[in-house]
Amino acid sequence: MTSHAEPSLTFSEDELLGSRKYDEPLIAGGVRCHGGFDEDGRYHSPRTLHRTPAISAWQDQLLRSGHDVIEISRALMPPQYPNVEQAKLLLRHGVRDPMVRSLTIISIVEGFGAVIRDVRVPELAELIVEPIDGTALSHLRHGLFEAHARDEAGYEDEGGHKQMWEAARDLALEHPKIPGDVLMRLMGRRSRAPKRERPFPQLDEKLERMLAMMAQVLVIEVFAEGTFQWGIDVLSDPEVSAEPQAAGDMVRYIQSDESPHVEYLRTALSEVRARTLRTVDGKQIAGCKVVDGLLHDMLHNLTRNRPREQREDVRESMIAAMQDVANPTSLEEEYESLASAWTAPAQTGFEPSSAA
Ligand SMILES: [Fe+2]
Ligand SMILES: [Fe+2]
Repeated sequence: MTSHAEPSLTFSEDELLGSRKYDEPLIAGGVRCHGGFDEDGRYHSPRTLHRTPAISAWQDQLLRSGHDVIEISRALMPPQYPNVEQAKLLLRHGVRDPMVRSLTIISIVEGFGAVIRDVRVPELAELIVEPIDGTALSHLRHGLFEAHARDEAGYEDEGGHKQMWEAARDLALEHPKIPGDVLMRLMGRRSRAPKRERPFPQLDEKLERMLAMMAQVLVIEVFAEGTFQWGIDVLSDPEVSAEPQAAGDMVRYIQSDESPHVEYLRTALSEVRARTLRTVDGKQIAGCKVVDGLLHDMLHNLTRNRPREQREDVRESMIAAMQDVANPTSLEEEYESLASAWTAPAQTGFEPSSAA
């Protein structure tokens, strides 16, 4: 009797970067973007032909060996600011600047995603006690990081999420004037972020940095889910969007492209959790202790700082922009009355004690 062949766990870089054939390309704001449509007009994300089955095979392998694939609770996502109702209220009053600013920040942050290709990957097989053949971990620098970078920032003459968010903004808000200080403010905020001590100085520094980066990007990707829903809700509303269908769809395409990012990162981090790491002084540390520790810190800080940061990004210009309407005070009051109440959950789910 012949049994079904086991799904492959090893892929070449070309395979992980390979896309299916499209019937029609995706054009966004005049820019040829990644991904495309089949003969039924259905959108297919780029570079998922082998990447998606590869990631599920690695996940199955983890589950079959009795390990979990980590999950970040949606409850930890702070609401987008301004929220859907606030954004629509402003747009209905012709106050576009805050929305233009928010959408531009999102497109810039997407473009920053290209840095994932510069993450230095140490010799993992030497730093991890158990074997890593046929895992997401062993494919990080052989296709997974590169595919991610291309998805976010575009590749060669093909646009990525940066260009797709710009297109969504320009479709919905009819090519608005972009405030000149968006990037400067964003960089200012980043450079003010305090330098923190190494959480795991006993680890190889390159390994610690790579894992911290992956944990951070995973959290950002999971939280981005809230941003997509917000983008779709606002930009698909014909009352405030000039191209509700096309602008909303553009965000939906981006949303579907993000799924492999969340999935490979949570898989690779779970593979580390299921293993043992060597320390520089010849000892060992449980991978779960490191991964959970990094995720806990990241989630704890983000849930506490992000709502404030988002407010700071747009708040000042928002008040200024509101002054142009007939009755700024009543608009501001109505705006504030629509604010989302939110408090960060007490637990991140990755508490140090649970990683013992
Ligand atoms: Fe993205
Ligand atoms: Fe992403």
